[in-house]
Amino acid sequence: MVVKTVPTSPFADQRPGTSGLRKRTTVFQQPHYLENFVQAVLDEAALQPGQTLVLGGDGRFHNREAIHTIVRMAAANGITHVVVGRGGLLSTPAASHLIRRGVNGQPAAGGIILSASHNPGGADGDFGIKYNTGNGGPAPEAFTNRLAERAGSLTAYRVAELPAFDLDVLGTHTLGSLTLEVVDPVVAYAQLMEQLFDFGAIRALLTRGFTLRFDAMHAITGPYAVEILERRLGAPAGTVINAVPLPDFGGGHPDPNLTYAHELVEELFGEQAPDFGAASDGDGDRNMILGRRFFVTPSDSLAVLAANATLVPGYREGLAGVARSMPTSAAVDVVAERLGIPCFETPTGWKFFGNLLDAGRITLCGEESFGTGSNHVREKDGLWAVLFWLNIVAARGESVEQIVRGHWAEYGRNFYTRYDYEAVPSDAANAVMAGLRAQLDSLPGRTLAGRVVSQADDFAYTDPVDGAVSRQQGIRLLFQDGARIVFRLSGTGTEGATIRVYIESRETNVERLGLDTASALADLVDAALTVSALREHTGRSEPTVIT
Ligand code: G1P
Ligand code: ZN
Repeated sequence: MVVKTVPTSPFADQRPGTSGLRKRTTVFQQPHYLENFVQAVLDEAALQPGQTLVLGGDGRFHNREAIHTIVRMAAANGITHVVVGRGGLLSTPAASHLIRRGVNGQPAAGGIILSASHNPGGADGDFGIKYNTGNGGPAPEAFTNRLAERAGSLTAYRVAELPAFDLDVLGTHTLGSLTLEVVDPVVAYAQLMEQLFDFGAIRALLTRGFTLRFDAMHAITGPYAVEILERRLGAPAGTVINAVPLPDFGGGHPDPNLTYAHELVEELFGEQAPDFGAASDGDGDRNMILGRRFFVTPSDSLAVLAANATLVPGYREGLAGVARSMPTSAAVDVVAERLGIPCFETPTGWKFFGNLLDAGRITLCGEESFGTGSNHVREKDGLWAVLFWLNIVAARGESVEQIVRGHWAEYGRNFYTRYDYEAVPSDAANAVMAGLRAQLDSLPGRTLAGRVVSQADDFAYTDPVDGAVSRQQGIRLLFQDGARIVFRLSGTGTEGATIRVYIESRETNVERLGLDTASALADLVDAALTVSALREHTGRSEPTVIT
């Protein structure tokens, strides 16, 4: 095996964000760009001979080429075992599971996942790469910080010349000192789902005529959803739409929300609406849940899953605790209090749940950004959430809407909305945040939207397991009546800055539980825009997306 050492110079922008390194595809196609970052990852991960690396991606444009490069670099860096999904494909949760479970009973030391999640793909779309550690979860901040330093001072990378190999051929390929194992991307994941959920009850529900639609958005979950929903659970062929993964996601934006999953939304809000609708994103970790003409907010979804967890075989023993990211609504907090279990509030990004899950302090966790998951893997998991909902619907014998309305009646309702302002010039976005920071001391005690501000801060988090401190995680305005306004800048965008404004109010008056969200939150939205002078700083009168 011939190993080449290629001299290189560092790129200034190889610092991972909320979830790995995400850039325009054209940036990744520059000579040495991917190679530099991969070398830094392999140096930092420091796998020993005999240890296994899992590798796969969401199938977006450039996935296959990048997988080939990474295999050759892994071999050159002394890695002896790589497990890759057939065709270079693995959903993010399936990759997490493969790392934890490994092959032949031996867990992997880590994995490289190629994805830019819900960002559009294609030659003029986005690409991304991230490293997950041996627990199956995204590498913690300490790791990604060291990684950025390494990438910033790199002078060479190593790549091996290997015999040709075919990623579409299952089985063991011996390539010099490297054993490349090409595995079916779906089977192990589908088995895990069968262990967690009552497939018999869901099958019976479908046999009774319960109808569902799943939109894979031409992204990675197509093959997973067809196998699980249609083959194993017996949903009719065609239940999964946009089921074939395409390198550019069919030109769509593979983000499961009311704006981008419009085909599904039109059907679920139309005349012939099925009982249940769901969608997942580019790499399969996000989910949107819909009932017939009914949208479940991700924050409510987490609360409902927590409240009903013991109806599901995998969670029959109850929950150790729950966690949500800071901007996620406090609906799950109310459930946790009722159950007498701890509820943790973490910064945005799945990596902050890892320690809590590993330490057994939480069982379920979620984010407002269409992400829910549990201790079964160390990523959020789109299809898992869909199956959890179907299991609850089957066990309760109620519709999605009845379940959610019943939940509000029992626990109260947290009205919730998020405004995104995408591709804002960085200076303007920074000015919004700086303007808010400058007001933090004067806000408490003030009345906004008829409510008194009880606390205003820049969220900081101390990890209860390892003591790591993360600062400046978003500006919070907390109100005496439980309402909240949160501002933060996205860490996943690739163009300018994205400002996210999260708005929430708490309602326990039964007369008002059924209000529509926009009117329930109108005065808080106004207050948020006024106090931040967002329109003045950015020149934007309307957000790009409202969820
Ligand atoms: C966004 C979401 C965040 C999620 C991340 C990765 O990050 O807001 O909750 O963990 O994508 O899917 P952001 O762009 O806000 O930094
Ligand atoms: Zn994703």
